[in-house]
Amino acid sequence: MESLHRRVAQLFQETFNTEPAFIVRAPGRVNLLGEHVDYNDGFVLPAAIDRAVWIACSPSNTPHSTLMAADLSERVSFSSETISAKTDLAGKPLPHWAKYPVGCAWALNEAGHETPSINAVFTSDVPRGAGLSSSAAVEMAFISSFLALNGGRVDEAVSRPNIMTRAKLGQRAENQYVGVNCGIMDQFASACGKRDHALFLDCRSLEWQTVPLPEDVAIVVADTAVPRSLSDSAYNERRSACEEAARLLGAKSLRDVTVADFQRNKNKMPELVARRAQHVVDEIQRTEQSVFLLKQGNVRAFGRLMNECHESLRDLYEVSCPELDVMVNIACSLDGCYGARLTGAGFGGCTVNLVDHNEAPKFAQDLAERYIRETNKNPSVYICRADDGAGVV
Ligand code: GLA
Repeated sequence: MESLHRRVAQLFQETFNTEPAFIVRAPGRVNLLGEHVDYNDGFVLPAAIDRAVWIACSPSNTPHSTLMAADLSERVSFSSETISAKTDLAGKPLPHWAKYPVGCAWALNEAGHETPSINAVFTSDVPRGAGLSSSAAVEMAFISSFLALNGGRVDEAVSRPNIMTRAKLGQRAENQYVGVNCGIMDQFASACGKRDHALFLDCRSLEWQTVPLPEDVAIVVADTAVPRSLSDSAYNERRSACEEAARLLGAKSLRDVTVADFQRNKNKMPELVARRAQHVVDEIQRTEQSVFLLKQGNVRAFGRLMNECHESLRDLYEVSCPELDVMVNIACSLDGCYGARLTGAGFGGCTVNLVDHNEAPKFAQDLAERYIRETNKNPSVYICRADDGAGVV
């Protein structure tokens, strides 16, 4: 959004008394299909969205870096000496928000890229804690900023293999520095997004392709206003159940188990583990099918797979919550809705809806009104556009 571009540039000027060298933008994402399968080597189908993190940055030309989180009105300074200790210059532990950018410097250093000292201001209109990957957007924005400041390597950094390397560096920062055990999907989508396209990624080979979204459909994202609670521990539990299922089936990962294999062998595992695994094997198959449907423009059949995905996440994987179910049920009863489901890790956050383009404004309004009536909670509903991935603007 143009106004965030201006806002970071202006705040940078006010904070550091000079013009920024670069303005960088990195989007959030919504996932259309392929939920909780990235860490099972499966297929995912996210899209980057037109809500993003914006950074204004310059080399600091001193030994230390200063970051300002404009939305929190907080700033932190660190240096190459304090990165590993996860502290600021005064030796105090980094605030949680700062671990994402500093973690990116750490991951780049670990991978042999030098990172210059940086002055940066950042802001975002990706809602936080809503399952739209606001953290991955921060990571991709800072990795792009560090690479841009590293001098003349911008073209190299955005070539196709390097773009995936950036996503992996962001994931490494989140896994090892911040300490969240996420898969690759969110960083990938933020790095590789393409306007008006979904992205189909094989999380095993990391091969990917862009898939055009039909012009006559809109992606509507509805935030339940339920913050994603308990999500880290429950997420890790789901991952362990998947690993256990693969082990019991003698497979490297659930990617190697077909739906038919699974049906034949599911009695080899505890009932709960079988339910978790069933979601994953079905979802991998659904996502593979969905890409053919999308390419044919068969939005109705694609939407039905989204609905099936929600039921599976609700009943088998058990990562929904009452408000997400209410939001999906209302959506499915409204005109113009092809499919609706929770998106992201679950346990609160957002639903994604595929809606006839002409019906989208009325759909968004009716969905919000009925959700308020049924839950007494105040949702935010966005009509989104699939957008380009991270880069210097
Ligand atoms: C979170 C993680 C992703 C993915 C999704 C669930 O967004 O960061 O890697 O596992 O949950 O599909």
